[in-house]
Amino acid sequence: MSRPLLQLALDHTSLKAAQHDVTLLQDHVDIVEAGTILCLTEGLPAVRALREQCPDKIIVADWKVADAGETLAQQAFDAGANWMTIICAAPLATVEKGHAVAVARGGEIQMELFGNWTLDDARAWYRLGVRQAIYHRGRDAQASGQQWGEADLARMKALSDIGLQLSITGGITPADLPLFQQINVKAFIAGRALANAAQPSQVAREFHAQIHALWGE
Ligand code: 5RP
Ligand code: MG
Repeated sequence: MSRPLLQLALDHTSLKAAQHDVTLLQDHVDIVEAGTILCLTEGLPAVRALREQCPDKIIVADWKVADAGETLAQQAFDAGANWMTIICAAPLATVEKGHAVAVARGGEIQMELFGNWTLDDARAWYRLGVRQAIYHRGRDAQASGQQWGEADLARMKALSDIGLQLSITGGITPADLPLFQQINVKAFIAGRALANAAQPSQVAREFHAQIHALWGE
């Protein structure tokens, strides 16, 4: 198992505030995400600004695309994203079109696993060439008390067995990481745990310390 990466999700309602946190955290994370909330609020310039601010980082456009896969992928990758998310409810045709643009631009599509999806869906995405998925506990589900459980871990393992590289997110803190020790994790995606911390870089260090302790040096 390779050691998981750390991804900073920027779900700010202002690009200026997001960029401030990038200044504090970019040396402490591997991947920077233009979050859904940031992109819906500030638009495409948010992706461009993050690419400019972090020329050497992997940039994710977390757009959770449901339709118009080709056009939106062109927009995301031309703005400087390396990876773009598509929601699992999207038609296969949307995934196929988005993936074709990603391949042409040297990027990747990540499937966002919210709500209803099946392992047959996952196999179909894999057959199209998609290699990444995000296992997600939504903000609202978390707020209404949804916890991580054995069923989540079993589904994560099944997705890995299909060949998908998994990122895990949804209110993740360093203390949660031992839960996922048996899972082959591509990245842990953290938003509020980093952005709302009194000392964001200290929390990023705690993530890395846990990752090294659990997945090795
Ligand atoms: C929500 C998202 C968030 O970016 C992701 O969940 C990370 O944020 P947090 O750690 O605050 O949950 O995509 O749909
Ligand atoms: Mg996100």
